[in-house]
Amino acid sequence: MENSTVLIVDDNIANLGVLSDTLDQAGLEVWVAQSGKVALERVKYALPNLILLDVMMPEIDGFETCRQLKANPLTKDIPIIFMTALSDIANKVEGFKLGAVDYITKPFQQEEVLARIKLHLKLYELNSKLEEKNALLEQKVTEVTQAYTDLQQMQAQLIQGEKMSSLGQMVAGIAHEINNPINFIYGNLTYAKDYIQNILELLEMYQEDYPKPTPRIQAELEDIELDFIKDDLLKLLNSANTGTQRIHEIVKSMRIFSRVDEAAVKAVNIHEGIDSTLTILHHRLKARPEHPGIEVIREYGQLPPIECYAGQLNQVFMNILSNAIDALDEYHQQCCFSGKINRSGKIYISTEIIRDNWIKIRIMDNGLGIKEEVKSKLFEPFFTTKPVGKGTGLGLSISYQIVVEKHGGKLHCQSVPEKGTEFIIEIPIHQQLEEAMPAHCVA
Ligand SMILES: Nc1ncnc2c1ncn2[C@@H]1O[C@H](COP(=O)(O)OP(=O)(O)OP(=O)(O)O)[C@@H](O)[C@H]1O
Ligand SMILES: [Mg+2]
Repeated sequence: MENSTVLIVDDNIANLGVLSDTLDQAGLEVWVAQSGKVALERVKYALPNLILLDVMMPEIDGFETCRQLKANPLTKDIPIIFMTALSDIANKVEGFKLGAVDYITKPFQQEEVLARIKLHLKLYELNSKLEEKNALLEQKVTEVTQAYTDLQQMQAQLIQGEKMSSLGQMVAGIAHEINNPINFIYGNLTYAKDYIQNILELLEMYQEDYPKPTPRIQAELEDIELDFIKDDLLKLLNSANTGTQRIHEIVKSMRIFSRVDEAAVKAVNIHEGIDSTLTILHHRLKARPEHPGIEVIREYGQLPPIECYAGQLNQVFMNILSNAIDALDEYHQQCCFSGKINRSGKIYISTEIIRDNWIKIRIMDNGLGIKEEVKSKLFEPFFTTKPVGKGTGLGLSISYQIVVEKHGGKLHCQSVPEKGTEFIIEIPIHQQLEEAMPAHCVA
């Protein structure tokens, strides 16, 4: 406070003299101005710590001077104390309205003037320090918030990464385990069919050459219903064949789906990825006693192989399709609960080429839709409307990272509450060079 500067603005030379002597003796640096105009000029060169401003002055009066000082961002924070000979309340009120911090009335009581000036200098100093601290604090808060967001994202990536890679590994593991026995059954079924065919033919030959069986054989023939067996055995083998073929396809899908370890960009058939995901989700799509089936309608366009991280894009399909199934399940439950008519659940998937070298994948469901207040939070990590233990709230935030950050694509959502939801994925057919990708993305 010792080095503080006070600018006194007064047209009365006697007043100026008295005041500046008093302040000078108190160890303050004093500048003087004999008019509002001079004061306004003066502050352009250097800023005082406080201004004592006379109200009644010719030309620009104290109020106008104050108005102009407050209008200037450089001078607006300097505390202003009005000096007035009037004990007029209106004048004082006007001064405060304009942003003055105090007023003193003439004739001056030296002690009082000094005490007030010192008080306001101190207040101003403390206030500036506080502002500095506040700014620092705000900066720290921003830093901490940023760090927190980063941390949250990292946690989200880690958890989802782990979840998906363990799902992928599990799927890959199961596929591997099933593959051997199924190949074994599948391969042997052909032989079994041949052998059985041969045996049946041989049996027929016997019957032709020995048309009269012994009573023992006749009894056995009737007991085992040979004609039925002959007819049914082949059907049975055929359906076993279809079954193993189906398992074979599932295993193939599981392998396509679990391309989690393929770190590099590869050109792949996107439709295979979607289909393999649908196969993995088959158990949730088909009709069950407590639950009607969900119809999947596919409208695939002609797409070239798409350069992408295939395993990761499959995770995106998995997340969006699982959400659609969840939304349809929830809609169904709500309808059952309230006795409303239930429309049958549908998921519509389409693909097409759009503008130069981009593709668009739309995944639409006619489930319960997304409420307005939820829409803005969809892609936030850990945001979920599902009960604890059911949803982690990571599916969409990770999908967003995979599509937008990893593939330089776009991911939007459109939804009409009660009607359904559509997710739109757009990605380029060719990927940029590796360096262009953000390095921090975790698979
Ligand atoms: N197709 C959809 N229909 C209705 N709501 C949806 C749909 N897709 C997402 N949502 C809403 O978005 C929220 C966030 O989805 P997200 O996939 O990120 O997390 P989650 O499904 O809740 O949990 P997680 O996928 O981690 O198991 C969901 O809880 C749900 O409220
Ligand atoms: Mg989800």
